[in-house]
Amino acid sequence: MTHSIPLTLDINGSPHTLSVEPRVTLLDALREQLQLTGTKKGCDQGQCGACTVLVDGRRVLSCLTLAVQAEGCEITTIEGIAGENGDLHPVQAAFLEHDAFQCGYCTPGQILSAVACIREGHAGSDAEIREYMSGNLCRCGAYNTIVGAVRQAAEASR
Ligand code: FES
Ligand code: FES
Repeated sequence: MTHSIPLTLDINGSPHTLSVEPRVTLLDALREQLQLTGTKKGCDQGQCGACTVLVDGRRVLSCLTLAVQAEGCEITTIEGIAGENGDLHPVQAAFLEHDAFQCGYCTPGQILSAVACIREGHAGSDAEIREYMSGNLCRCGAYNTIVGAVRQAAEASR
């Protein structure tokens, strides 16, 4: 029999206390226990990137991260990147402006991946953006406009 473990996760700047079995992924803890449903599950095996979140500022696949592994780290989800007054994050604003999404299901992962991609210094050219955003699949084929949005947000951050 598996026992639940008490856990405190730092998500978007606030502590969240929960109790999870050791097998529960960060993705499922966010979605099913904390009702932070912006993080999406497209495959649950690390192949699509829809579950991308930031852990200590780095992009990770939350479907391949156990919730217990994230204790003591700063977790950022799509719900946490807008300003306190509701102003969109520059990458969110650029995605809107460029129509960089259609169904919107890959979009939270795309946006968090783009935030990290820019911070990593991997947004220097369209080719580099394509390469370093290639871990995020988009079935709606929004790739061209995603590149435009990331380029604009990267230029604005320089
Ligand atoms: S749900 Fe995590 S990579 Fe697809
Ligand atoms: S916007 Fe639909 S999968 Fe990317």
